[in-house]
Amino acid sequence: MKKILIVDGGPRRAMNTAALCDAFAEGARSTSPEIVVERVRLYDLPAYKGCVSCLACKLKGRETGSCALRDGLSDVLRAANEADGLVIASPIYFSEWTAMTRAFLERLVFPWLHYTDFSVTAPKKMPLAWIYTMNAPASMMPDIRAHLSILEGAVARGLGDPAPQFVEAYATVQVKDYARYAMDGLQPDAHIAWRDAHWADDLETARTAGRAMAGKVGNGRSQDTQHGTR
Ligand SMILES: Cc1cc2nc3c(=O)[nH]c(=O)nc-3n(C[C@H](O)[C@H](O)[C@H](O)COP(=O)(O)O)c2cc1C
Repeated sequence: MKKILIVDGGPRRAMNTAALCDAFAEGARSTSPEIVVERVRLYDLPAYKGCVSCLACKLKGRETGSCALRDGLSDVLRAANEADGLVIASPIYFSEWTAMTRAFLERLVFPWLHYTDFSVTAPKKMPLAWIYTMNAPASMMPDIRAHLSILEGAVARGLGDPAPQFVEAYATVQVKDYARYAMDGLQPDAHIAWRDAHWADDLETARTAGRAMAGKVGNGRSQDTQHGTR
């Protein structure tokens, strides 16, 4: 059995980000009964914090590569470090991840970062995929990416994936009935037309990415590393 962990950092259970996570999982599962997909919703977890700068992960001789803080995120961090493939999903909030996703990323990556030579090493190598949904059109993605790229790069380096997959859905439909909300500035008709033209393709992109990750995982692209071995 090989396990793909999807960390869903969106608050809404049945909207855009969740649907792309479902499609990714469906694609991955379709490849083999040997592929297990586990889905975690960060917003369903008991209370947790971002990095509290305790520096326990930097104590000499005790650099385990995993966060020492014990709270509602601990089990997910352990699962992410032990998985065979990792998917991180978030709606874009103010050009970045949701706060819960950001807190998860801080706690995941800071223990991988060596303050000796600034290399980044996860306890295990594995393929990586990102899922994002946003109001913005594709043309604004370079501006948004500028906010994401430092941490995205650190996660990819840590996991040893030189070419992570990106599933990005633009100009999403944010509410089921725009008539109920003061949101005219978003040009709801344009979003609905975009959704009608592109959403099926977005879902298929997610399914394809799921199949691709399952293929990498099945081919043994995940492997334990000794933390500290770059
Ligand atoms: C607090 C908040 C901030 C947002 N900021 C942005 C933003 O900066 N850029 C953007 O394109 N969309 C932004 N959005 C829109 C969401 O990213 C978009 O509707 C997304 O598809 C929602 O995902 P969901 O349907 O899975 O909840 C924001 C939404 C909220 C609630």
